[in-house]
Amino acid sequence: MATREFPLIPQDVERVETRYRRIVTPIPVPESIPTLQELRQTEPRSMGGQPPVVWDNGQGSLIRDPYGNQWIDFSSGVLVTSVGHAHPRVISAMRDILTKHLYHAYCFPTDVRARLTARISSLLPSPLSRVFLLTTGSEACECAIKLAKTRGQRLGGAEKQVIVSFENGFHGRTMGSQLAGGSPALKAWIGGDHPDFVQVPFPDGFRCPDTSFSVFEESLKAQGVNPKSVAGVIGETYQGCNAKVMPAHYAQGLRRWCDENQAVLILDEVQAGFGRTGRMFGFEHMGVVPDVACFGKGISGGMPLSAVAGTDEIMELYGPGEMTSTHSANPVCAAAALANIDVIVEERLGEHAAALASVLLGSGQEMMQASNGHIGRADGEGLVMALQFVTPGTTQPDPDIAFDVVQKCVQAGVMLFAPVGVGGGAVKINPPLNIPEDVLREGLSVVGDVVAQRCA
Ligand SMILES: Cc1ncc(COP(=O)(O)O)c(C=O)c1O
Repeated sequence: MATREFPLIPQDVERVETRYRRIVTPIPVPESIPTLQELRQTEPRSMGGQPPVVWDNGQGSLIRDPYGNQWIDFSSGVLVTSVGHAHPRVISAMRDILTKHLYHAYCFPTDVRARLTARISSLLPSPLSRVFLLTTGSEACECAIKLAKTRGQRLGGAEKQVIVSFENGFHGRTMGSQLAGGSPALKAWIGGDHPDFVQVPFPDGFRCPDTSFSVFEESLKAQGVNPKSVAGVIGETYQGCNAKVMPAHYAQGLRRWCDENQAVLILDEVQAGFGRTGRMFGFEHMGVVPDVACFGKGISGGMPLSAVAGTDEIMELYGPGEMTSTHSANPVCAAAALANIDVIVEERLGEHAAALASVLLGSGQEMMQASNGHIGRADGEGLVMALQFVTPGTTQPDPDIAFDVVQKCVQAGVMLFAPVGVGGGAVKINPPLNIPEDVLREGLSVVGDVVAQRCA
């Protein structure tokens, strides 16, 4: 999570001119300061955490400002533009529906909604059969949590209401999704006691070295949680803050535990879904199928659309009109999502991400070796990686180095979003899934140089 503002003072930086990167002005660009200041004056401070670059247009793995600068995009926005910026098939699908003059349809049936739910459903393993379309990842997680609680009540009454999630997890910023998130600060802002939201350690092998499933059971016991009171367990396939996929043995233990205790297993695939980890769905790494899966970000090629997929039993809990949303499957967004999914499948972007995974993670491991202990861990899967900056020899986050690394990379023509994760110590690298290998390598060499200099 970004907790600092980047200064709005233009800095003279080295001129960069390669095939993919171009930095020809001070950063931030002096002419951009009025726009940046206007945002700071008219928006809440919370919106001001990203590097001070005015985005103007993008193409594939490149992003540009209006002042002649161009970056290799290692952010994908925030893991959204998986098929790259402005993919021609996504543009054409949106243009088609716009020229039909269908911009909105509420929950009235549309052909594009039918095709999208059928397409997503056809990709999902059994018993995930039904798909409910929403707008944001937070909404999808909120909806999944509510479904689990409703089912819990029907099976076990008022006693079966607990939602278990993971420390350092993130499921969004609506009330329920934020309560399920694993940052105590985010829960504290909401205030009050929430004994129905309980966290256990995530088996990342770094801050929680013991990855055996017994840690889950012991942690619930230590917190006095009766397994029969659990309505659902929600976890990210990989934690956004550390890019570590839940180990298969742990996930399988969790699947069994949820079955034994009639708890809904919810996997939050908002980041991991649709090819990011080298498989269509992140849970394919684990050998389990959840009861409910939440999707967002890379599902739609950049347009706001998310989805909750679930079993018949869970998705049929509410009657007609009882689970809806004004912008469910907005036709323009749905058309973009259909085209985006076609691109991911037909251009085999999951396979491409898997093929480049060793380049990305290999480079992260090299940066770690060269970091004099300042990178405590480099984890990743497919085309997502997190570098954990720490005080050497500890797992204590070092947000200052992480911040400097992001700032210097942006000044050198590689776009990264602000540090995330525990104490703001993690730098994430997650380019579009169709990034060409030479572009990936050029960007990684820039990050490697910045890390080596900052950690010397
Ligand atoms: C794993 C995960 N779940 C949920 C969300 C929330 O998604 P949104 O910002 O679209 O509400 C995010 C956003 O970063 C996420 O990474």
